[in-house]
Amino acid sequence: MATVLGVNGVFHDPAAAVVADGVIRAAAEEERFTRRKHGKTPVPFSTWELPEQAIAWCLAEAGVDVDAIDAVAYSYSPDLAREVGHDVTTDDWESLRSLFVQRAPRFLRTVLPGLDPAVVRFVPHHRAHAASSYLAAPYGDCATMVVDGRGERGSFLAGRVRDGDLDVLSTVDLPHSLGLMYETATEHLGFRRSSDEYKVMALAAYGEPAHLDTLRELVRVDGGAFTTAPIDWSRFAPPGRGEDGWTRADADLAASVQRRLEEALLELAGWLHDVTGEHALTMAGGVALNCVANTRIAEESPFDAVWVQPAAGDAGTALGAALHVAHELGDTVTPMTTAALGRAWDDDAVAAALEVADVPYTRPADLAAAVADVLAADGLVAWVQGRSEWGPRALGHRSLLANPARAENLVRLNDVKGREQFRPVAPMVLAERAAEIFEGPLPSPYMLFTHRVKPEWRDRIPAVVHVDGTARIQTVDARDQPLLAAMLRALEARTGVPVCVNTSLNTGGRPMVDSPRDASSASAPARSTRWRSVAVWFAADRSSRRPPSGTRHDHGTVVRGRGADDRTPAGPSAAPRVDRALLGAGPGGGGGRRRPPRRAAATRRESLRRRCGGDRGA
Ligand SMILES: [Fe+2]
Repeated sequence: MATVLGVNGVFHDPAAAVVADGVIRAAAEEERFTRRKHGKTPVPFSTWELPEQAIAWCLAEAGVDVDAIDAVAYSYSPDLAREVGHDVTTDDWESLRSLFVQRAPRFLRTVLPGLDPAVVRFVPHHRAHAASSYLAAPYGDCATMVVDGRGERGSFLAGRVRDGDLDVLSTVDLPHSLGLMYETATEHLGFRRSSDEYKVMALAAYGEPAHLDTLRELVRVDGGAFTTAPIDWSRFAPPGRGEDGWTRADADLAASVQRRLEEALLELAGWLHDVTGEHALTMAGGVALNCVANTRIAEESPFDAVWVQPAAGDAGTALGAALHVAHELGDTVTPMTTAALGRAWDDDAVAAALEVADVPYTRPADLAAAVADVLAADGLVAWVQGRSEWGPRALGHRSLLANPARAENLVRLNDVKGREQFRPVAPMVLAERAAEIFEGPLPSPYMLFTHRVKPEWRDRIPAVVHVDGTARIQTVDARDQPLLAAMLRALEARTGVPVCVNTSLNTGGRPMVDSPRDASSASAPARSTRWRSVAVWFAADRSSRRPPSGTRHDHGTVVRGRGADDRTPAGPSAAPRVDRALLGAGPGGGGGRRRPPRRAAATRRESLRRRCGGDRGA
């Protein structure tokens, strides 16, 4: 019966997790506290930096004092890393990274005064990734695959799991790396590498894999291993401009690298199935956040079931390292059943934050119905409910919601969030209705797969249909998320559609919000867009504590704010300055003079298609 603190701090996405008696008690990324996306830059000089605030909060949430920590699991092993030489400046300072890792117990002691450095255990990076999937998944025995940019020296691991123990069957060492290949393409297209890969995945839907044959020569798979040759991306397209605009050539490059990645993963998964014969596959590593590739593996590989760690990137290694050590120490690990592992606020704290922001609030008797009213009237809802999500996806705890039936809501949300218009927004749907509307891996509670929208539904939910006819859905099970499910049912009663737009509650380039204060700040940019019809509501649990993962939960709610049904004129005398900015009423209500959108969503998307020279059936 051990208490283990997991820590990721080497590259980026610094994070912490606490596993006590085999149960996940808390997990959080440092970016949610510091508001700096990805926490830090993954250069050797930042290796010493630790997720101090995430560590402190996770321990406090779990009620663990420093002297009660049985082990600190650090998700990188100096034994596997480059040796520390006499000159740490060589090889792009990689030796310095190793030096800082060796000193991690000392750095941890500065963050946790009184910590015995002897309790620190180094867990190889890709074993931590792997454990974050196979020990958190609901399968027990399974196959597992880690596809990453890099760890100490490797980029890939595949193995078989028996009774919680991993038998490594294959690894691939640098410089060969599917993750780094994708990163270099991302950088060439003008996006931020090791951060914006999901934008390349979205852009791929606008292109054709024109360079696939060439990439097949450069990226070769042989059994359970692969090689990746250095690729001069300029031979396919000039360096891109990223957020400032993209071309057909850029989209074709994105489609080519995306398609080759999918092919390579399918070949590797096929090999892994051949050698293990397992029915289930678990996956982690940054590449496992590629939900288009995940879907092809789920649908086309021989595995019957595929489970992906919601925090598949490096943040997840904090949890994986902790689970790995908990298992080593003899605890039976309880699989995770929710990604709601972060912070929550009680009513008083939410009220205090809203009062500081000068935002009035109401408490409707039926929150689900009240929110559905706002959405049906085409208001936007900032939905802040319970504990924040573990991983990069908004799963109905820090989400921005809208009506999917209004096509212009895609452009509207991208404007409000200040991000590129080629980016799709995703739907959440009642789990029991998902198969009626979408085709693909079900259930999909963590938004790690994409689904084809059935033709008869595309015109009914146009805001969430990507240009290739797909959507990255979240299925909502009433047993897990009763409030969300009630809201979706109420929305269907008003609109005939059991689907809601669910995009992360943040603004472009910023982490997802965590606190009510963050939510207020993230809502503020809406004031400066042309979309004046923004109603922002806050929904919060009454309770600041929820049961640990592994148990079902139910909770009361309170809604604060004003929406489309509250049509109080929003003149200066009727609404305080901040209120008016944050809670501008929906269409037909107050909230200032409405200006028509410059261009409807349908027109915008048609323009995008023309720019790419074709219609891909959205
Ligand atoms: Fe990693």
